[in-house]
Amino acid sequence: MISRRKFIQAGLVLAALPKQIAWASSKVFRNTFRAPKLELGKRVGKDVYFNLSIQSGKSAILPNKITPTLGINQGFLGVTLRANKGDKVHISVKNTIDETTTLHWHGMKLPAKADGGPHQPIEPNKTWQTQFDIIQDAATLWYHSHQLHKTAEQVYQGLAGMFIIDDEKSKALKLPFEYGVDDLPVIIQDKDFSYNGRFRYLSGMMGGMMGKKGSTVLVNGVINPVLKAKKSLLRLRLLNGSNARTYHLSFSDNRVFTIIGSDGGLLEYSIKVNTVRLAPAERVEILVDVSDGGHPILQHTAVQESSGMGGMGMMGSMMGSDRQDMDIFQIDASGTPKSTSSIPKTLIKHSNPQQSVVSKQRKMVLQMQMGPRMMFGGDAFSINGKTMDINRIDEVVKAGSTEIWHLENTSMMAHPFHIHNVQFKIINKSSGTVTGHELGFKDVVLVNSRERVSVIMKFPEFRDTKTPYMYHCHILEHEDRGMMGQFVVV
Ligand code: C2O
Ligand code: CU
Ligand code: CU
Repeated sequence: MISRRKFIQAGLVLAALPKQIAWASSKVFRNTFRAPKLELGKRVGKDVYFNLSIQSGKSAILPNKITPTLGINQGFLGVTLRANKGDKVHISVKNTIDETTTLHWHGMKLPAKADGGPHQPIEPNKTWQTQFDIIQDAATLWYHSHQLHKTAEQVYQGLAGMFIIDDEKSKALKLPFEYGVDDLPVIIQDKDFSYNGRFRYLSGMMGGMMGKKGSTVLVNGVINPVLKAKKSLLRLRLLNGSNARTYHLSFSDNRVFTIIGSDGGLLEYSIKVNTVRLAPAERVEILVDVSDGGHPILQHTAVQESSGMGGMGMMGSMMGSDRQDMDIFQIDASGTPKSTSSIPKTLIKHSNPQQSVVSKQRKMVLQMQMGPRMMFGGDAFSINGKTMDINRIDEVVKAGSTEIWHLENTSMMAHPFHIHNVQFKIINKSSGTVTGHELGFKDVVLVNSRERVSVIMKFPEFRDTKTPYMYHCHILEHEDRGMMGQFVVV
């Protein structure tokens, strides 16, 4: 058998080659699946107090190597925050690292001042105090750095975690609910490593343009973990926490699983599928039945994302990792006791935003400009012809109003478009019908090359004429390079 050490070396050498499958295909690494620590805060009735510290860490991700990382209340990635609809959360965020950063509550409906975007920077050694009421339904949200021009790098180093909201209606469904046992966060991220164990960030000029894609997948910060199932019905809260990669996920034995939730919470009906697409920042909740005692591997199958023009495809393969299939993690269900949970057909009845009360429609054109500027950043990335300017308000929205936004991608690659402070429904896609988790409430939607996607949303009743929210591409390198705009709600 090949020695562990040799295998590592082989893995690192292969990392430079296209189509490499070094870590991903390795059945050698049987790392234990780890859920991030659960943080419920200090509860006084409906007031919940979270004490967070942004910190640096030294993490054992590769065997015999130490990787410098960033995390929240731990060395790498954030602890999982969990609270209920109806709670008032009070969050204190202390920045103990030596650069300015922020923590943004992705998917949360909340006052602009509490959003944690580029307008709420936390300088080194400073503490940011914020609070907001949780007014939305149960959902798998997340939180991450949103520092202007620095988001991609800071998230890549580890400044991201999960934020779970519970409510009575979802609890009544008796879905798997035991954190770390049958209710499992699955934060999927792709990284590259240097020989010394450090994360390798952008290499070459193309990196910024395509976004950073790594050839090694981590799940909750662990390479190729195996989850020893303790129940036969598992609820996986999949979060694509990657900078740029879109995953096409299925199980190695092609088993059917059930989609129950999207970005904004539980669907109206559960949906049986055998594959799901997950773009950066998207979440999907699935139920997987492993009562057959099998050992399925969750896998990513590379597909060409953008059909328009061969150019991007060529550059994609020059980047090496774009066409690479990857193993995400394995479930070991041998000897697993039968679960008492079942898969409900109907889930949560929602009140959807109504087209009859739409007061405004907006168009968002996602653009990339080819040429030398593209390679070096500059203003090659834009929305409606404008590059992000923190001193410019792009859109003014009326609180409580319902709007339709038409997202149009005129560029040659797909962009996952995200809007702060709302959960929207997709009402139309020029490429075809809306299916799967895209039927549910969303806060990010992948808009393919040459595609037009229309979304409808009702804005919450938070008003602030001065502090904007963001909308942007969630390929973090695109966001950092200007594919972002600002809106206020008045
Ligand atoms: Cu997940 Cu504006 O961010
Ligand atoms: Cu967000
Ligand atoms: Cu983009």
